[in-house]
Amino acid sequence: KEHIAEVEKFTTESKEAVESFRIKYLGKKGLLNDFFAEFKNVPNEQKKEFGQTINKLKKTAEEKVNTLKSALDNTTAETGIYGDLTRPGEATNIGARHPISIVKNQIIDIFSRIGFNVSEGPEIEDDWHNFTALNLPEYHPARDMQDTFFVQTNPDILLRTHTSSVQVRYMENNKPPIRTISPGRVYRNEAISARSHCFFHQIEGLYIDKNVSFADLKQTLQFFTTELFGKSKIRLRPSYFPFTEPSAEVDVYWGLETEADYRITKGTGWLEIGGCGMVDPNVLKNCGIDAEEYSGFAFGVGIDRIAMLLYQITDIRLLSENDVRFLEQFKSAL
Ligand code: PHE
Repeated sequence: KEHIAEVEKFTTESKEAVESFRIKYLGKKGLLNDFFAEFKNVPNEQKKEFGQTINKLKKTAEEKVNTLKSALDNTTAETGIYGDLTRPGEATNIGARHPISIVKNQIIDIFSRIGFNVSEGPEIEDDWHNFTALNLPEYHPARDMQDTFFVQTNPDILLRTHTSSVQVRYMENNKPPIRTISPGRVYRNEAISARSHCFFHQIEGLYIDKNVSFADLKQTLQFFTTELFGKSKIRLRPSYFPFTEPSAEVDVYWGLETEADYRITKGTGWLEIGGCGMVDPNVLKNCGIDAEEYSGFAFGVGIDRIAMLLYQITDIRLLSENDVRFLEQFKSAL
């Protein structure tokens, strides 16, 4: 009977203590087995009471063990793997953001400050959005400028060669005024080297409104490079794209301070970061926008190249090899 009282009082918060309590009463060599063994020596007239008492002790001890155990299990579930919250924590290994993502987020941030939203589209595109709507009809020689990976021919489905395809989708689904940038991965069938890869990343910008001029384009690009690189000088070189007229190539002056600068800019200090121009009225028409009322500009910049300059990366392949020794260097750059 004293044992029953003791069992009823018993409490603990440690799993080990519950276990030794269980062994003490219910284990093979525990008290209860001793009592049961003792039973045959008890005089007949006391057998009934003795039997009832040890049965009650057994039941009480079993219930105690069960309630203590499940209470402990619940606290463990609530507090995570460690029941004891005073234990020192274990450091979690935090990853690093990829340099492409870091630069992409910076660019999105810069353009969002002047009213551009972000739009995205599929990497697997049809012919219309990647080429035809952009003033590149079938058999147009300019299609050769973009070494395309085809997923299927006739009808043609391909890996987009530029994010201009997203601008077509955006114009088809939205009315001017339009201010949007479209970041994403693009694919071209080019030989892989330290300077070029068969996939890379672009951000294209599109601005459509009444009376948009080339001066607006130039100022927007200048604002962008100044925000991203600090005080910066840009150069627009006349060029040709089927979807813009006039068109230009955008170079930024970076300088030649390091060995990496020398290699990335081919010893000139200038780096071509993208293309731009005034959206061809034909493209506006293809996308359902009145070209009499509206005009606009578009530009596209390469994120990989900009990341290479900013982080002094001399081989573009490092950006897609997933070598943790490379990636871990961006831990503090979140
Ligand atoms: N889409 C072009 C390319 O990938 C870049 C560009 C975008 C040029 C917008 C002009 C206007 O080469």
